[in-house]
Amino acid sequence: MSKNFAHRGFSGSYPENTMLAFQKAIEAQCSGIELDVHLARDGRIVIIHDETADRTTDGRGFIKDMDYAELRRLDAGSGEHIPLLEEYFDLAEQYNIITNVELKNSVIWYEGMEEKIIALIRRRGLEDRVIFSSFNHFSILKCKKIAPEIRCGFLTGSWIIDAGAYTKRHSMECYHPDFHSLSNEAVKEIHAAGIIINTYTVNRQEDMERFVSLGVEGIITNEPALLHDVLKGSVMPQPDKGSTRSPSPP
Ligand code: G3P
Ligand code: MG
Repeated sequence: MSKNFAHRGFSGSYPENTMLAFQKAIEAQCSGIELDVHLARDGRIVIIHDETADRTTDGRGFIKDMDYAELRRLDAGSGEHIPLLEEYFDLAEQYNIITNVELKNSVIWYEGMEEKIIALIRRRGLEDRVIFSSFNHFSILKCKKIAPEIRCGFLTGSWIIDAGAYTKRHSMECYHPDFHSLSNEAVKEIHAAGIIINTYTVNRQEDMERFVSLGVEGIITNEPALLHDVLKGSVMPQPDKGSTRSPSPP
């Protein structure tokens, strides 16, 4: 059975990467939550998608240029604030869920980010309930070197040749592709290499059904309630009206 990862929490209906979105994802019976982290100026690990506060809050400026006290005052939607990773774990550790921590360090290299996050997870004993991912594969290699006990995945946004072999060669357990680039052939190659696939961001029922039937281990979605119903088989299968992508590479 594929795992149901809520992307930035239940972001289809609630402000992304907020405690409200995480709480609602848990209520929707997700099996995991994906979230994005940056470092504030004072080194606190904060949950937000972009390098700046501009798009998702009523503030402006780079996360790296503000202390958490300043960031905390911003409205992240519906009166929610930007959470700390610690604050998220206060909630998540009460439930049987997996957390996919996406390190957002492709644009800004946050010095010491990997060490800080790993220390926090070890302090809380959550090593077996976390998966790290990043588009910055150097950073993920660093995570794996420091904390071999924590599962790691390469994030990709495009079509990669021999993704399974690449992932395995670097001792990663998981591969996290954009679903548009995940062909049936790619699924086979990645699985043959013994790699777990968690694909994003799958919001349409017919795409969910396709990946469930392919045996993809994790589906990352803005719509965890819909995916929950699809996994339970309580929504009628949709006739194929043409997915956003072809099932095989063009
Ligand atoms: O981790 C999967 C997905 O979140 C990666 O892209 O931009 O939504 O963080 P993005
Ligand atoms: Mg993300």
